[in-house]
Amino acid sequence: MKTVLITGANKGIGFETAKQMAQLGYFVYLGSRNKIKGLDALNKLKSLGISNVELIEIDVTNIRSIKKAKQELENQTEVLDVLINNAGIAGAMPQNISAGNIENLRNVFETNFFGAVQTTQQLIDLLKKSNSPIIVNVSSELGSLTIHNSRQNPNFEIFDAYSSSKTALNAFTVLLANEFKNTNFKINSVSPGYTATDLNQYKGTQTVEQGAKFIVKYATLGIDGPTGGFFKEEEIPW
Ligand SMILES: NC(=O)c1ccc[n+]([C@@H]2O[C@H](COP(=O)([O-])OP(=O)(O)OC[C@H]3O[C@@H](n4cnc5c(N)ncnc54)[C@H](OP(=O)(O)O)[C@@H]3O)[C@@H](O)[C@H]2O)c1
Repeated sequence: MKTVLITGANKGIGFETAKQMAQLGYFVYLGSRNKIKGLDALNKLKSLGISNVELIEIDVTNIRSIKKAKQELENQTEVLDVLINNAGIAGAMPQNISAGNIENLRNVFETNFFGAVQTTQQLIDLLKKSNSPIIVNVSSELGSLTIHNSRQNPNFEIFDAYSSSKTALNAFTVLLANEFKNTNFKINSVSPGYTATDLNQYKGTQTVEQGAKFIVKYATLGIDGPTGGFFKEEEIPW
């Protein structure tokens, strides 16, 4: 059975991704920074008849927590086939770059960028043991500089901390994919699209089922799949 770790999977898109991956036959390590919330999520899946799932406590901003999670994973599996860096925060508003609170900017980067980088660094050896390792960095169209520059979306400016953290995450995707270009690794950024979750006070226009579908597609790529790209239904410009 292939294995997948999904960070921030106790709710929202991460939870739905865990459900869909388990239903596809993966053994799911459901990442949650809070044990009680994680156990609730685990029990929800078990009540749906899903048993190929285990809780892993992981706070992506805390290196000790990540190392502990790595140890727990190593106790349970020899190989990690898929890592989904899903944990993310929107940050406090307002976020205009000319006057936004710098601490808020740092906090958003701490989770959305540094969190994904340090989680990946700690788990890369376990991923290397897979025949076809996959990393999905859950990004957003708000991370696309091309779209920002074209000013297609009038709301874009107010999410500057969040947007720039996702741009940085996209850079991580490209650079990591380059580093592993002569291997079987598939490393991509994927946007779930504007999805109704706590992150946006349920203003998103898609359901979590719709959002998670895109992540699952790139988390289950075959050997011929793309690497170093940015996708939703189609490729998104950087
Ligand atoms: N919703 C959208 O429209 C949308 C669009 C594009 C991209 N995304 C991305 O999709 C991902 C999931 O977001 P969502 O909409 O499902 O939001 P959500 O419902 O708020 O879920 C976010 C998850 O991340 C977890 N998390 C936050 N900080 C963490 C940390 N330091 N360590 C570990 N876990 C942490 C949260 O845990 P707690 O429950 O403990 O807070 C929660 O499980 C994010 O990366 C987000 O940027 C969302």
